[in-house]
Amino acid sequence: MCAKKLILDLDTGIDDALAIAYALGSADEIDLIGITATYGNVAVPLAARNALAVLHLFGRDDVPVYPGVDHPIAPATLPKCVAPHQTSGPRPTRAGRTAARTAGKRTLRGHQLPARWRSTIPTASAAQSSPTPPRAPEAPGSAVDFIITAAREYGPDLTIVPTGAMTTMATVFRNAPDLKDSGVNVTLMGGALTLPGNVSPAAEANISQDPEAADYLFKCGARTTMIGLDVTHQTALTREKAHEWASLGTPAGDFLVTMTDYYIDFYLKNQPEIRGCGLHDPLAVAAALDPSLVTTFGFNLQVDLEGPFRGRTIGDRSRLQDPDKHTQVALGVDVPEFLDRFMGRVTAAAR
Ligand code: BDR
Ligand code: CA
Repeated sequence: MCAKKLILDLDTGIDDALAIAYALGSADEIDLIGITATYGNVAVPLAARNALAVLHLFGRDDVPVYPGVDHPIAPATLPKCVAPHQTSGPRPTRAGRTAARTAGKRTLRGHQLPARWRSTIPTASAAQSSPTPPRAPEAPGSAVDFIITAAREYGPDLTIVPTGAMTTMATVFRNAPDLKDSGVNVTLMGGALTLPGNVSPAAEANISQDPEAADYLFKCGARTTMIGLDVTHQTALTREKAHEWASLGTPAGDFLVTMTDYYIDFYLKNQPEIRGCGLHDPLAVAAALDPSLVTTFGFNLQVDLEGPFRGRTIGDRSRLQDPDKHTQVALGVDVPEFLDRFMGRVTAAAR
């Protein structure tokens, strides 16, 4: 048992599954005490089922999965953290919605899970009726209380890595404001500071799912680290590297090869400059476990909620002169060290 505890808040799609594998391959330094299911790539119920399927494939049916908040937070329910200089703007543009749907297609399609799981992970015929998984997720909406309880129990020994919509995390800090002083480490995958977004010119996918929730999370006093496209787009898994898992001869290894083949094809078609598939969520886990992998700068961030820039992560002018910076934004990454650690730990988990 490790003193350090980890919770992954996932919208389990392909790179979320790689984040699970990275965490399981890090079992000698941190205990994965639970996965909470948020939405983005897929809706909460399927995110929970996909997480259960991946945990089962990697032999970790001991890790509980807690469904989280399954819809964007109602802005009116969020206490004002700072001057109400923003109002929630119109819903995402059509381009933003279409792009988010495209992003949502980056699910686990193309997997090679054992046949009984085939329809658990969204495939072309997502309407297939899924067989009952070997175990059920915890009660609907149980993620919020699970995280609050864990944060109060473990404090600075708890690391939370959200890699989907930030709705559950905003609800946690709204319901338990005391947690902002608990020392809990929140390292999120989302946003972009020096790059355009990936679902609109302004918005990264995870932030775009619930901009109000992300804006609240950055402003409520919680200490956060943002692992955005600025660094995740510097990391890429090549097909050559991914095919090393084929030599494992294990169902998990075969699953990783097929799943990443699909993902790499998607990237080569849509973002060829990445030269592989983006390792967004695993980098967030790696940086949460070892912050020395990234170079960060302190900011007080906001998320734009209005008009064409809705979903943009940018500095909050009203807190620019506040010397207490609440968010560390990663702008640099030790790519060789991360890729080496990624392959080592995911391979160890898949053996
Ligand atoms: C983020 O969007 C999702 O599709 C991925 O899982 C990742 O968390 C990247 O923008
Ligand atoms: Ca994700």
